[in-house]
Amino acid sequence: MLPRRPLIAVDGPAASGKGTIARALAGHFGVSHLDTGKLYRVVGLMVRLAGGDPADPVAAVAAAERLDAALLDDPDLMSAANAASASIVSAHPGVRAALLARQHAFAAAPAGAVLDGRDIGTVIAPDAPAKLFVTAAVEVRAARRAAELTRAGRALPLDVVLADIRARDARDSGRTAAPLTRAADAVLLDTSKLSIAEAVARAIALVEARLRSS
Ligand code: C5P
Repeated sequence: MLPRRPLIAVDGPAASGKGTIARALAGHFGVSHLDTGKLYRVVGLMVRLAGGDPADPVAAVAAAERLDAALLDDPDLMSAANAASASIVSAHPGVRAALLARQHAFAAAPAGAVLDGRDIGTVIAPDAPAKLFVTAAVEVRAARRAAELTRAGRALPLDVVLADIRARDARDSGRTAAPLTRAADAVLLDTSKLSIAEAVARAIALVEARLRSS
């Protein structure tokens, strides 16, 4: 028996493995999982589909306030172009504010929950008893993302993917509103040299240890 409600915060940069790890943790602990990046991706996509500019806070906040959940299944949601739009809209404080209630409600589930993103351990669920900050070398992350895009039939040259990830890292870490940063009480998990199975096993062990000691 674990003493605490398993509320688990998983943060980290693009293609660090945090999504895979978060899904596996949700399965292991029998709780729901929210990929919060998809919320920002929907906002980016809504702005683009309306012909707007993701850098325009008025257009971005209007989209965030009437989030179209049907777009969660849109084939363009996970594209590299839309990742860049998501990263741009996510820097607007009004966009983050509009998406807050939905994330708080998810995190409040009595059974516990896993949320992954950039600001889960710092802003969305600062009291979560278990927090992971998942990272990997930028070259490793770019190679993973390039392979993922190839599998999805959206291949891009490795150097383009690497430049995209570096730009997104800089924007996500450098913004004023809820920047990507490791919470003081988050455990660091570097997946650069780990297989998926190894990373998942280590994440489960770290979270179990945290939940027991909290
Ligand atoms: O996780 P994913 O790569 O799908 O996220 C897309 C973008 O959404 C990120 O680059 C980041 O700018 C933004 N994001 C955020 N806060 C979160 C999750 C994602 O700002 N909690």
